[in-house]
Amino acid sequence: MASSLNQRMVFPVMVVVGMFCLLVTPSIAELPRFKHPPKKQQSLNILVLGDWGRKGTYNQSLVANQMGIVGEKLDIDFVISTGDNFYEDGLKGVDDPAFYQSFIHMYTAPSLQKTWYTVLGNHDYRGDVEAQLSPILKQKDSRWLCMRSFILDGEIVEFFFVDTTPFVEEYFTDPGEHTYDWEGVLPRLAYVSKLLKDVDSALAQSKAKWKMVVGHHTINSAGHHGSTEDLKQLLVPILEANNVDAYINGHDHCLQHIIDNNNGIHFITSGGGSKAWSGDVKPWKLEELKLYYDGQGFMSMQITKSTAYIIFYDAFGKVLHTWSISKDRNVAAWI
Ligand SMILES: *[C@@H]1O[C@H](CO)[C@@H](O)[C@H](O)[C@H]1NC(C)=O
Repeated sequence: MASSLNQRMVFPVMVVVGMFCLLVTPSIAELPRFKHPPKKQQSLNILVLGDWGRKGTYNQSLVANQMGIVGEKLDIDFVISTGDNFYEDGLKGVDDPAFYQSFIHMYTAPSLQKTWYTVLGNHDYRGDVEAQLSPILKQKDSRWLCMRSFILDGEIVEFFFVDTTPFVEEYFTDPGEHTYDWEGVLPRLAYVSKLLKDVDSALAQSKAKWKMVVGHHTINSAGHHGSTEDLKQLLVPILEANNVDAYINGHDHCLQHIIDNNNGIHFITSGGGSKAWSGDVKPWKLEELKLYYDGQGFMSMQITKSTAYIIFYDAFGKVLHTWSISKDRNVAAWI
């Protein structure tokens, strides 16, 4: 549903990014890589949460409590955070008490004492980004692992975490009253084009059965922010070319599951970690929209070699939607 205005804005960006690809000498720099094999050989079990850090308010603590219960039931391997970790303006520094109030003292259940693989959201970029990326936070709580972009090899599945905030031109050209911490990101187009190249080559080299990309911003969404056109133009062709199974994001404060008719990719929004936008939904093709829930909650994934099961839960742990994605069927169809 690209408006002509957005297309006009994005097209010059693509041209300029294309020029950068020609001008900048290719570097071999790679994305940082982590390994986290499943505890149980047959399945990798995880929880996915987004848009959460509000010191327990807006039902953050209800969601945290249910995550603890579901996390225990599934005996999870780790947690993924899709960003907007600390509202309203990220962390002020490594000693910001919000790290305790919104994270350490919030997700206290034994089942949640696992690594939290975390990306940054646009609200995190309004604070001290280096603080949120700092190893000092890992000393305060060993679960914390936040980087701009990285790869997580879970043996059965490979996750590619992408720093999506720099893709959104509007934050740079029209920041309004907000101040963003762009240190390490400028010049923007060089940053974005290098990141796209790194993600593309990492995806192309991946031998994983499942490939999933995680970012903060939406790509296909019926929510308040809607689809992020800059990502649709620049990242989606890379997802398609590399047979990515799913793109997982936050940003819209809802739970949502869209299967794109054009490419079969699952677009999954888990952005219900605290404040939700009740009633804020745009029309979407019904055959693509499998779930739209405008309240708080989170999601689980259980991934085996043949099947990925996804389940969405509300703030009371009630199951809202389940779906299974089968690899075998895809292989059969392909043969
Ligand atoms: C908390 O959740 C309940 C049930 O979904 C909802 O009615 C209420 O509005 C929520 N509170 C806030 C502050 O979002």
